[in-house]
Amino acid sequence: GAPISADISTLEVGQRLILEWRGQPIWIVRRSQEILQALPTLDDQLRDPMSENPEQQPAYVLEGDAHMRSIKPEVSVLVGLCTHLGCSPEMKAEIRPQPFDANWKGGYFCPCHKSKFDMAGRVYEGVPAPTNLVVPPHHYENDTTIVIG
Ligand code: FES
Repeated sequence: GAPISADISTLEVGQRLILEWRGQPIWIVRRSQEILQALPTLDDQLRDPMSENPEQQPAYVLEGDAHMRSIKPEVSVLVGLCTHLGCSPEMKAEIRPQPFDANWKGGYFCPCHKSKFDMAGRVYEGVPAPTNLVVPPHHYENDTTIVIG
């Protein structure tokens, strides 16, 4: 499919924009400073904290702080499909105890078989999903326009 573009100028902290590209849901999420500060603290609970599997993201999203998996730290772009069997995970962006995790630091929860991902799409240890969520190819056309594809 052709690339698609999105205006994120009105995307507020904690909000998610959902697009479709090549038949897949694309999530664009503006993360809070609190979430960004939590991400590096989660590494020892994650299967691939530094995103060393090159198939799950383009290399340029690891060039800054690799924990963020994004070009701009505050804006996360992900394919919204669980890497286990492709269900759509739920966004649980709040840092607060959740029914399934008393120390939840924000992230995504897949209801199908209980896989958990952080707010960078990094998969937790001990869940069925084998890999981090995919970051699709993308770039900024200007400060507030993202092109996917
Ligand atoms: Fe998400 Fe199985 S499809 S955990």
